[in-house]
Amino acid sequence: MTMLKHEQIEKSVGLLIVLTLLTVIWGGLLEIVPLFFQKSTTTPVEGTKPYDAVRLAGRDIYIREGCFLCHSQMIRPFRAETERYGHYSVAGEYVYDHPFQWGSKRTGPDLHRVGGRYSDEWQRAHLMNPRDVVPESNMPAFAFLAATKAKDSVGADIEKKMEIMRGYAKVRGIPTYSDEEIKGAKAAIGDKTEMDVLIAYLQGLGLALKNVK
Ligand code: HEC
Repeated sequence: MTMLKHEQIEKSVGLLIVLTLLTVIWGGLLEIVPLFFQKSTTTPVEGTKPYDAVRLAGRDIYIREGCFLCHSQMIRPFRAETERYGHYSVAGEYVYDHPFQWGSKRTGPDLHRVGGRYSDEWQRAHLMNPRDVVPESNMPAFAFLAATKAKDSVGADIEKKMEIMRGYAKVRGIPTYSDEEIKGAKAAIGDKTEMDVLIAYLQGLGLALKNVK
């Protein structure tokens, strides 16, 4: 058998496509598959806890309203980022994020460590009308979130959502909700508005590594 020459491969479109695909697939697998088995990417960073019922509902508002279209939750390990936002993001902080909210566009600032940066009152004023607290802001107002109770929207099937999250956590063997926590989910959400649960979600973001330098 004569060896396949580089020139022959380049001249045969079909062969070139097949071999290129095989190379890309192989390279992709080599990069991605080990991540599923690396402890640092599959175990929670100390201090990272499953989202409680209220924050899980708030997270759904974040997704529904498309906050991720303007905000990332991914601080890169560069000086300009860590000086502005705090410790860079690590994989173990996202283990309870299904789906993750990394985002790819920053019309506004990164929010991965925004938890505790402002008071609840500031967050409320900002969501009601961003220009009241940041005059040059072009973030849309989300005042309408104060008009709907979370239990009538994202909270309506909260037990089911928690069970699904528990399923993910079990596959990974990481801490997750107890039956009592799931049973108490509706009561925890109570009469909170969509804005209340969203603020609870924001206020808990990135706390695990907040004070780590
Ligand atoms: C059209 C783009 C856009 C959308 C959509 C958007 N934001 Fe913003 N956001 C911004 C901009 C720009 C700023 C910076 C100015 C300011 O503080 O208002 C900002 C600032 C913020 C801040 C303050 C961050 C800091 O560190 O100072 C928070 C918190 C925030 N947004 C939350 C949200 C939430 C929650 C949503 C979804 C309900 C959302 N944003 C949707 C553009 C957006």
